[in-house]
Amino acid sequence: MAMCSNFILAIPLTLLASLVAGDDVGFIYNGFRSANLSLDGIAEFTSNGLLKLTNGTRPQTAHAFYPHLVNFKNSTNASVSSFSTTFVFAIASGYPNVSGHGMAFVISPTKGLPGASAAQYLGLFNDSNNGNDRNHVVAVELDTVQNLPFNDINDNHVGIDINGLNSNASSPAGYYEDGSRQFRNLSLTMLGGQRIQAWVEYHGLEKRMDVTLAPFRVPKPKTPLLSFFHDLSSVVKNEMYVGFSSSTGVIFASHYVLGWSFKMNGQVQELSLSQLPNLPRLSPKKRSRLLTIGVPLILASLISVAVSSVVYFIRRKRKFAEVVEDWELEYGPHRFKVKDLYIATKGFKDKELLGAGGFGKVYRGVLPTSKVEVAVKRVSHESRQGMKEFITEIVSLGHLRHRNLVQLLGYCRCKGELLLVYEYMPNGSLDKYLYNQPSPTLNWRQRFKVIEGVASGLFYLHQGWEQVVIHRDVKASNVLLDEKLNGRLGDFGLARLYDHGTEPQTTRVVGTLGYLAPEQTRTGKATPCTDVFAFGAFLLEVACGRRPISHSQTGDIILVDWVYSCWSKGDILEAKDPNLGSDYVAEEVELVLKLGLICSHSDPKARPTMRHVIQIIEGDMPFPELSSFSLSSCGLTFAHLEGSDDFAVPDSSSGRTGFSHSSTVAASILSGGR
Ligand SMILES: *[C@@H]1O[C@H](CO)[C@@H](O)[C@H](O)[C@H]1NC(C)=O
Ligand SMILES: *[C@@H]1O[C@H](CO)[C@@H](O)[C@H](O)[C@H]1NC(C)=O
Ligand SMILES: *[C@@H]1O[C@H](CO)[C@@H](O)[C@H](O)[C@H]1NC(C)=O
Ligand SMILES: *[C@@H]1O[C@H](CO)[C@@H](O)[C@H](O)[C@H]1NC(C)=O
Ligand SMILES: *[C@@H]1O[C@H](CO)[C@@H](O)[C@H](O)[C@H]1NC(C)=O
Ligand SMILES: *[C@@H]1O[C@H](CO)[C@@H](O)[C@H](O)[C@H]1NC(C)=O
Ligand SMILES: *[C@@H]1O[C@H](CO)[C@@H](O)[C@H](O)[C@H]1NC(C)=O
Ligand SMILES: *[C@@H]1O[C@H](CO)[C@@H](O)[C@H](O)[C@H]1NC(C)=O
Repeated sequence: MAMCSNFILAIPLTLLASLVAGDDVGFIYNGFRSANLSLDGIAEFTSNGLLKLTNGTRPQTAHAFYPHLVNFKNSTNASVSSFSTTFVFAIASGYPNVSGHGMAFVISPTKGLPGASAAQYLGLFNDSNNGNDRNHVVAVELDTVQNLPFNDINDNHVGIDINGLNSNASSPAGYYEDGSRQFRNLSLTMLGGQRIQAWVEYHGLEKRMDVTLAPFRVPKPKTPLLSFFHDLSSVVKNEMYVGFSSSTGVIFASHYVLGWSFKMNGQVQELSLSQLPNLPRLSPKKRSRLLTIGVPLILASLISVAVSSVVYFIRRKRKFAEVVEDWELEYGPHRFKVKDLYIATKGFKDKELLGAGGFGKVYRGVLPTSKVEVAVKRVSHESRQGMKEFITEIVSLGHLRHRNLVQLLGYCRCKGELLLVYEYMPNGSLDKYLYNQPSPTLNWRQRFKVIEGVASGLFYLHQGWEQVVIHRDVKASNVLLDEKLNGRLGDFGLARLYDHGTEPQTTRVVGTLGYLAPEQTRTGKATPCTDVFAFGAFLLEVACGRRPISHSQTGDIILVDWVYSCWSKGDILEAKDPNLGSDYVAEEVELVLKLGLICSHSDPKARPTMRHVIQIIEGDMPFPELSSFSLSSCGLTFAHLEGSDDFAVPDSSSGRTGFSHSSTVAASILSGGR
């Protein structure tokens, strides 16, 4: 191969420490001051020699590749030679606890990865080629976001990716301390960035890939963080490019590589840590430099400060002149400015749309000053009637604090519209994990945790606070999942708006069909019991993976009736979601299904309170004997079906897909009820 002579030309001699004879490429960059890497996307070298892959808040990709092909094996069927590489990197985030996306060391057949997507795809793959064997890409991802579709284990992990972002091996970021062999966490991302050194080694004979991390200036730990046995020969082609890839999303992140050393077939040369360039300072501590630039500049800045403070005070004054009714003034901290929310959601762009529900559309946003991620709900509301009362309630609900409630941060009123600002929940609403097959579903352990969470949140609303708060719209699509997949109830109190808004005489029933308790449609009154009824429907939803009412050609399928029919046949577990597979705890599934049935009792007095529900779930109280509630004689029903017998229950003999037009079980319960 005549590659060798090219390398000597390509790599500046000052940076090139070794180039061993033979085909075995080796290079070292202690900083990239005059390096000749092939960059694309937003990658660039800074003047002090950092390789700055990204620095931005728009979804963009960045690649930096060693410009020449590297020989990984001698012939098509030969095995891949050993190689090792080490690099020092830093991922800076703009604010604590929230981070943009990660980066990756990558071995690829092309220089740069054309067509790859930004954000969660890390500039490695796109939606259509993710997981495709024809990619021939091996990557070591340093990922700072948990993407459930890729089965990411957490939001701070290292993974080995072969041809796709579903890592073949992964581990939380960290290292095993020499000596004690204790695992130490390492945060990949930090405010302003933290330097971390990484080593990636492939042992050709053992066909093992090792990844090791350590904080800057800590020698390479003896125990690798991740060891993955896999023959790379079908993935890696004879000649490949090596480099880095990263991407940004809507949250600010920047990715830097400070130094990089690579060696084919041999021990990689150690980086000279003291020669590496410094990271940029996050906070501008450069006042002293201003002095050296001169007095005029200082004067100019003083004047501009003076001008901007005058502008600020004028603005402030004008802000108070904004149309805000007197009674709203005391809600200052809970009142958001339209402008801020407009900026946060990029003008309510469709791209930021998280979802649309019965009460309005929800947008994602990042508040301009605090950089906090929020969800903004736009509720169209023409009527001014009842608004004061409603806002008072919203503000008081803003004081509710519970780990299973989505925090309401505040509101904003503008013409014909009410904007409600909530905490942002990265994993979206629960219903999409239940119904949008084949997208990932939750396993039983996760579902049970969500159920416990929602029960605890609802209990807090009913009994844990100074006032009784009735949710009025408990359902899977109002349950959001936080980053740890805890279930959090959202949207509480919203249904109330429509109560207040309408004329007092006409009691309009709000809520969602299938979750409305029978007495609620008669009296129009929402009570804790009606919430428990909806919670029952929710339990069945989660355990069965079906909506309370689903439609088929043969008629409506009423979930509660169907579960009841399974129970009365003595096989309540038949009702469970088939997507759960075999990994579930039968006692818990049975408990949840039965609890769903008793909560769905048509007689409000027969339903348990949320306190009982929690005691039952936690096993502190024995499950009430189901027959003692004599479901069949008191009736289990959905109110809107009164007098109707046009629905179907599944035909148990033909499984889940075949439903026979039948009204036997449900009708007998219905008629038994009155
Ligand atoms: C940098 O690499 C490119 C691509 O290999 C090559 O065309 C160019 O001549 C190199 N420049 C220097 C200064 O080595
Ligand atoms: C990175 O971006 C931020 C915000 O856009 C900017 O203030 C900063 O100067 C940039 N840093 C570098 C090194 O380009
Ligand atoms: C590589 O292996 C495949 C199947 O194992 C075989 O068909 C092919 O001829 C081999 N190629 C070389 C160059 O040995
Ligand atoms: C490829 O050839 C080189 C030189 O002939 C040899 O040193 C190396 O071990 C070979 N690699 C493999 C994987 O056979
Ligand atoms: C951010 O993280 C720190 C430490 O992990 C924690 O103490 C703090 O509560 C977190 N802040 C938020 C807003 O989550
Ligand atoms: C995905 O990437 C592949 C490979 O780079 C490219 O050919 C394809 O056009 C890309 N697809 C999309 C939808 O961007
Ligand atoms: C690695 O992951 C890819 C994508 O999930 C899969 O196609 C491949 O079979 C996995 N390989 C191994 C060895 O696990
Ligand atoms: C490491 O992080 C994990 C998850 O963030 C946490 O559960 C664990 O307690 C941490 N361990 C140490 C030693 O800090």
